[in-house]
Order: sequence, then C-alpha cells, then structure tokens
Amino acid sequence: MTFPKGFIWGAAASAYQIEGGAFEDGRGLSVWDMMCRREKAIWRNQSGEVTCDHYHRWRRDVALMKRIGLKAYRLSISWPRVLPEGVGEVNRKGLGFYQRLIDALLAAGIQPYVNLFHWDFPYALYGRGGWLNRDSADWFADYARVMVAALGDRVRQWMTMNEPQCFIGLGHRDGVHAPGDRLSWTKVLRAAHHALLAHGKAVQAIRATAKLKPIVGFPPVGIVKIPATQRKQDVEAARRATFEHAHRTVWSNTWFTDPVFLGRYPADGLKAFGRCAPAVRSGDMETISQELDYCGLNIYHGVPVRSRRGGWEEVPPAVGEPLTAFRWTVTPEALYWGPKFFYERYRKPILITENGMSNVDWIGLDGKVHDPQRIDFLGRYLRQCLRASRDGVPVLGYFHWSILDNFEWADGYKERFGLVYVDYPTQRRIPKDSAFWYSQVIRSNGAILT
Ligand code: FCB
Repeated sequence: MTFPKGFIWGAAASAYQIEGGAFEDGRGLSVWDMMCRREKAIWRNQSGEVTCDHYHRWRRDVALMKRIGLKAYRLSISWPRVLPEGVGEVNRKGLGFYQRLIDALLAAGIQPYVNLFHWDFPYALYGRGGWLNRDSADWFADYARVMVAALGDRVRQWMTMNEPQCFIGLGHRDGVHAPGDRLSWTKVLRAAHHALLAHGKAVQAIRATAKLKPIVGFPPVGIVKIPATQRKQDVEAARRATFEHAHRTVWSNTWFTDPVFLGRYPADGLKAFGRCAPAVRSGDMETISQELDYCGLNIYHGVPVRSRRGGWEEVPPAVGEPLTAFRWTVTPEALYWGPKFFYERYRKPILITENGMSNVDWIGLDGKVHDPQRIDFLGRYLRQCLRASRDGVPVLGYFHWSILDNFEWADGYKERFGLVYVDYPTQRRIPKDSAFWYSQVIRSNGAILT
C-alpha cells in the first residue's frame, strides 16, 4: 500500500533556527535575538546568531535536500531580515536572499512552502506594543504583501504563522520563549486575538497580491488526545478531549482553530476565560475566518484518554514508556487520530506541517550518524498517517521536522531533530541513516513502510 499519488514528501525548518547571519546585510533585530541575550534564558546561553549558517550555506543545503529526494521544503521568512523595522523600508538584500533560495529550490525540483512567521517578531515592533497593539494585524498584512509581491510569481504555497499556541503561550504567558513576557490572561488573549486577525488579514493580502493562484494554510500545534481503546465511547472521549477548552490555558486547539475555520471562539473557552476574553469588534471574526485550502498540523505526540462517566480522563503512562531525547512520549497513533479528528471537525484536507523527534545523535567511530530510533519512530508515525489516509482522511503530505539539526529555542543546541546532522564547530553536514531511509520512503511513496 502506498500514499495517494502526488503525496507531498517534505521536510521543514525555520529562519531563526537555521539561518544565522543575524547581523548581516541589514537584518533588523527580532525578539529572539533579544531573548538570547538574557542571562540563562536559553540553555547554556546559546543563540541563533550563527546556528547552521544556512544564510551562507543555503546552496549546499538545497543540494542535500535534492539528494534526499524531497518534493517540498517548508521554510520560514525572517520578517526583520526583509523589513528591519518590521514596517516601512524593504531591505533588498534580505529579500534577495529569499529570492535566490526559492529559485534554487525550484531549480532542484523542490516545491517551496513559505511560512511567513515562525516566531522571530521584529524587535522594533515589539517596542511599539508587539502583538498587544491592534495595529500588529496590519503590520503583518503589509509584510505579507511585500513577500507575496516579491515571490508570488513563483511561490504558490503560503502559510501565515506557525503555532500561535507557542508564540502566544510560551512567549507571552509563560515567558520561556521570546519576547519572554508573563502577562495577565486579559493581555495574553488580546495578543492572541490580534495574531488571529493578523492571520486573516495576511490571507486576504496573499490572495489579493499573488500572481500564481495561491494555496494557503495555517499550521497550529495539533494537540491530540488518543483513545485508549477502539471502543466507541473512548473514541468519543478522545474527540471531546481534543476539542474541549474547559479551563484557562493556551494549550487549546479550538481557541485558535475554531475562529480560523468556523469563525467563532469556542463557547466553553469563552466561559473559562470569562472577563479576560478579548474584545471582539464587529467584522473581526469574518476577517479571521478566511477561506483556507487546508488545515496544517504540527503533531509530535498525543495523550491517551478513556471515557469516564460521560466525560474523559487521561490514562496514566505505563512504567517505562518510550520517550524521545526531549522526553516527549512516542505515540504514533497521534498521526492517525489527529488528522482524523481535525478533518471531521473542520472538513479541510490535512497537511502534516511538522513531525519528528529529538534523538541522542553523534558521529560514530565509523564517521556516520546512526539513528535507528528515528527510523523506527518515523516508520511508526508514518504508518498511522497512511492508515488515516486509507480511512478516507485527505492527508495531503508530510513535512519532517527538521531537515537539519538546529537551534531548538530555549533548549539551544541540546536537541537534535534533523535528518542531517550538523557539526556546529565545523558546520559539516552529515546525512543521518534516517535521511537515507527517508529517501527510500519518498522514492517508494511509502511502500517500504508496509
Ligand atoms: C515545534 C516548532 C519547531 C520546533 C519543533 C521541535 O513546536 O514549531 O520550531 O521547535 O517544535
């Protein structure tokens, strides 16, 4: 059994995590540059200043992607590289970098999936209130317009913003990601509302500006609950748990995806947040709920639940359960139930925009990087993805996180998620065993999995 014809086999990365060149060619500062300067904010006080030096090594990186056989590559644009002040003057050199990169990808037969925002918010705009300022929606739309005007004659695939749950929650509530704020719920939800408005306005800008008919998606975190058994009541419990918003949290699917796909905030979420809920102006929900072509999902794991007295409860993990290096659980069924539940709720095709694992990788005595756990992990997850597809869920494609080992935010270089090992002191790239294996998966359109 193989994946549907035309299935998109890709890998992903993001600007701040791989580019480096943080102070080159007129790039402006982002909130992540500033976060990394805070004492102890990042593991070993590391930063993305150099990271994989992709800003200089992009040609070779594209060649590697071609060697692996990727059909698609999901990249993000560094907003302050293109607009150093976040708005206003365009930095031609910054834009030129992305133009060359896109052209190289196209020449290599790799479809670029361009994500406009992966958390590196312009520091200049943070100084003007950041996402708390309602104008942020227009700043973002203007930036989208600049990008689509520059690339919309060759890029067809656009995404607006990666995982609002993270940059809002970890960045503005927990303070562990940039900009490192710990705000009240009222402010957090205001920032979230503006980010959602920014998403909607950016979709409008993309559709209005692109020369090639654009395909536009939204890649949130997919927070998945897995039924502990196949019994109907457990499946319903898991579905309910996946879309429930019963208490104050940003770790919610519906707070972000209901406005985007259904044009409303979830009633239970509004109840939970009470007076802290954002002020919604007339027309806001229409702006937010622009027609999209698919629902993106970043899924790494899920939490097993079972039904209990008409509700649900988490099933405690078994002693000795498998864990990745990051200590995230290995739960392949998340790639079955996640796509299925989201498709059934929103009726949009699903694109897996991120999935992968952090592994304890190093260069072996034989000079190679052996990562059997990653191969096993991916085999298990991809089988579940295939199962979803066979069960009638339109899964468009799969992007492995990540193409390269990279800067894992607050965890610095501690975590290695790449198909390709990066030896940071020398910037040598070594494709791991999983990269060779993934090549075969792609070549066989998944046939080697079964
Ligand atoms: C996701 C992020 C991505 C990377 C992976 C491991 O939440 O989108 O940048 O950090 O986790």
